[in-house]
This record gives sequence, C-alpha cells and structure tokens, in this order.
Amino acid sequence: MTDESGKVLDHRAVGALWDENAEAWTTLTRLGYDKYRDHINTPAFMKMLPDVSGLRGLDVGCGEGHNTRLVAQRGARLTAIDIARHFVDYAQAREDQEPYGITYLHASAVELPFDDASFAFVMATMSMMDVPDQDRAIHEVARVLQPGGFFQFSILHPCFMTPRFKWVLDEAGQRVALECGDYFRTEQGTIEEWIFGSAPDELKERFAKFRIPRFFHTLSTWLNMLTAAGLAIEECAEPYASDESIAIYPSLAATRVIACFLHLRCRKPSR
Ligand SMILES: C[S@@+](CC[C@H](N)C(=O)[O-])C[C@H]1O[C@@H](n2cnc3c(N)ncnc32)[C@H](O)[C@@H]1O
Repeated sequence: MTDESGKVLDHRAVGALWDENAEAWTTLTRLGYDKYRDHINTPAFMKMLPDVSGLRGLDVGCGEGHNTRLVAQRGARLTAIDIARHFVDYAQAREDQEPYGITYLHASAVELPFDDASFAFVMATMSMMDVPDQDRAIHEVARVLQPGGFFQFSILHPCFMTPRFKWVLDEAGQRVALECGDYFRTEQGTIEEWIFGSAPDELKERFAKFRIPRFFHTLSTWLNMLTAAGLAIEECAEPYASDESIAIYPSLAATRVIACFLHLRCRKPSR
C-alpha cells in the first residue's frame, strides 16, 4: 500500500501517521470520547482476560497506555510497545506520575525486541489491524510467548468493517443495517480519516482528523494466520453495547446491528 504521495506504507510509515494522531488521540481518549473503547471493547476484553496476576505480559500497540494500565492493575508485570514514539512518551509520562511498574518501549510488532518465550501472555487492543504485515507480527507474538502462554487481541470485525461499508439509515436517521463490500480486497490497505464523533465541536475543530492506516484480511485469513503460527483458538467474542450504555449514548445502538468488533484468545501449546 502507498500513501497519496506514492510512499509505501510499511510499519515505520504507519508509525509516523500514528505519531501525528498521538496528541489528539491521547487528549480525546483521556477525556472519555472513545465510547467504543470505554463502553464496549475494554469491558469485553477485560471480561475475557484470564487471571494475569503475577504473570509477565506484553502489550503490542499500547497507544497512550490506557488498557496497559488496566491490565497492570490486575497484577500483571507488563512491558508495552508501540511503533509511534509520541504515544510511548505519553504513556511513559503517565507512568512517571502514577507508577504501575510498566516498562514502555518504542518498538514494532513485526520485530519484537525480546528473546523467544519471554512472556506468559501477549495482549493487543485494537492495534493488529493497523500493522501492515500481520502474518509476521503474529509469528513474532508466537515466538515471544512461553509454551502454554496466551495471546488475546481485539480488532475491527473483518466481516463487516470491510474496505467498503456504508450504514443504512431509517427515516429517523438511525443506523439499521450495513451495506458492505470488497471483502476479498485484502492486499490493499487504506488510510481512514475520522475523529471521535462524541467530542464537542470546539475540540473537533482544534485537532485535525486522525489519519489511520488499516490493512484488511478476510476472517479465514486471520484464523489461518493464527493457526499457521502454532496458536490454538481458545475463545472468541463479538461485543456490543449494553442497554445501560445505549441509554446514555444512543449512537452505540449501531453496534447491535452487526458485529463491529472481534476479540480472540489463542494459546501456544505447552511443550
Ligand atoms: C487504535 S490504536 C490502539 C491503542 C491502544 N491499544 C488502545 O486500545 O487504546 C492502535 C495502535 O497501534 C499502534 N501500532 C500500529 N502499528 C504498529 C506496529 N507495527 N507495532 C507496534 N504498534 C503499532 C499505533 O501506533 C497505535 O498506537
């Protein structure tokens, strides 16, 4: 994939795009405007997460560290990496103010700077679909996992959040269905431009829209990449908003029309 100037979007170019997003993303998520994360994905991820107390874990694509801190609060000893240096700086600054014992590093999912079998678990929240070479990243995850260790991650749902999709609205403007296509157009990525819809206009105007690279695979490719790396699928979830969340944020009702997110936990076999 290339950007508008024809430059190939390898993992470092992806990191440069995320560096540009980091200030706005950190500000807006810390103010609570990532409703999908806070009301759907993170609660579902934490519910599915096995007991990690005392375990050495790795967070891949940690961003500003919100979910890393939540998992550290469950007693895990965490290392967290991100390809965007600015995100690592924001996460480290929070760690300096409020220590959770997390080690943050600027590094890439496709070349993890760790020895084989270094971690009892690896987590990745909404980051794996942003990595240009997911196959290589999944092999890296499997390499750094100890035998018997697990990999739990969340992504945009590959079957519905396809390269081409459009919400179908009813007369009241509610999202009631989804048109989606280009499901098999997987070799191409795309740069999506958006900003958190729930943020107030003055904040949306203060920041440029995020420019977010996404690389697509079909569901079967995702599952086959995991099994080819020697990982066995253990649990899956397709989380959506609760009645309580929809009562507060009605737009989250769209997450019940189709599955927007896919969460998977896989395990590396014991020796
Ligand atoms: C949508 S954000 C999610 C951040 C965080 N995990 C969360 O749930 O709030 C995706 C993150 O993946 C990171 N990322 C993308 N490609 C990466 C790579 N090759 N290696 C490490 N991190 C990467 C981005 O820099 C960004 O911080």
